[in-house]
Amino acid sequence: MPVRGQGPEGFEAVGSVAVRTFASHQSHQRTAVTQSAHQSMDGHHVNAMAGDGSGTPHDHFADYDELPDGHFYDPDAEYEPDPEYAATLAPDAARQRRERIGPTGRPLPYFPIPGPLTDHGPAKIIAMCNQKGGVGKTTSTINLGAALAEYGRRVLLVDFDPQGALSVGLGVNPMELDLTVYNLLMERGMAADEVLLKTAVPNMDLLPSNIDLSAAEVQLVSEVARESTLQRALKPLMADYDYIVIDCQPSLGLLTVNALTAAHKVIVPLECEFFALRGVALLTETIEKVQERLNPELELDGILATMYDSRTVHSREVLARVVEAFDDHVYHTVIGRTVRFPETTVAGEPITTYASNSVGAAAYRQLAREVLARCHAE
Ligand SMILES: Nc1ncnc2c1ncn2[C@@H]1O[C@H](COP(=O)(O)OP(=O)(O)OP(=O)(O)O)[C@@H](O)[C@H]1O
Ligand SMILES: [Mg+2]
Repeated sequence: MPVRGQGPEGFEAVGSVAVRTFASHQSHQRTAVTQSAHQSMDGHHVNAMAGDGSGTPHDHFADYDELPDGHFYDPDAEYEPDPEYAATLAPDAARQRRERIGPTGRPLPYFPIPGPLTDHGPAKIIAMCNQKGGVGKTTSTINLGAALAEYGRRVLLVDFDPQGALSVGLGVNPMELDLTVYNLLMERGMAADEVLLKTAVPNMDLLPSNIDLSAAEVQLVSEVARESTLQRALKPLMADYDYIVIDCQPSLGLLTVNALTAAHKVIVPLECEFFALRGVALLTETIEKVQERLNPELELDGILATMYDSRTVHSREVLARVVEAFDDHVYHTVIGRTVRFPETTVAGEPITTYASNSVGAAAYRQLAREVLARCHAE
């Protein structure tokens, strides 16, 4: 029997493999396995995959195509039993898990697996923004988008960088496009449908861009309400999507100001290296100015640490500095450095499909759950 989770409003049963596995552990009086420590509830070490002691390993993965609609197999979930259920088995284990310290040095909360939605929209718009280049904006846009789509959310990705890296990362050749987000911005009466592309990821669409967009930066200067051009262009699409994620270019120019004016939230990816915080003051100042003058709804949702390497003291120190500076704004989810990400760009697909069981895919699924939890907590 699936066990009901007690997540924030909008989250449904934790109908995951983990829960099923735990329920069957209980019914057969097997030893339940706690997450990460691979320790049984009574303190004995057991192998998470070792089964019931009968010598036959049980198949944790046997029945996940039977999951109800909208529920997905999540590699993390296996180690994250529903907290309420875990507490009935072993209060200490639940406390241990509650107090587990994450890479940011803070206790790692549990982010429930989001349940299915019965209807969609209006969209929350997220701008992925940092004027510093190569910090993981495009990678985070593609993979957060794909993870949200996997959780049944309708997602639109907006390539708002004339380099078109987001489009390339989704297998589109920007040079071959006749219509891009540029046309949507600059031509009155242009319907979004004509520009939209379906991606190979179900539930995820793309507004592509190419070098044409660089002309918009100049042409917009003489427009009336030039900062809210993107906001106007996205308005008719809001009802069709749950999340719209805008991949910004590495600058704080007019295109980025347009993205911030259209957005409800900003995510700032920061690479865990020495100069990570350089320029962030200017970015937060820009966000505040847009908030004051153009878009009072705008909020900094979070700082996302990327390219983190837990083996290096340097990475750990930088992350500690970032947490010192931004405190609770820093997401608990941290994206590790792995060569799988550059590989996905070549493959033209998100890591969640290219290497579905990789650590990188799990990290972006975890980020999606954290972003959803933050949105539902409001
Ligand atoms: N976690 C990661 N581990 C290893 N490599 C990564 C990771 N995230 C991104 N990369 C790689 O780093 C490079 C820059 O990433 P990305 O293009 O996402 O950054 P960006 O902020 O969008 O850059 P730009 O400012 O040029 O638009 C890419 O080659 C990407 O594949
Ligand atoms: Mg980019």
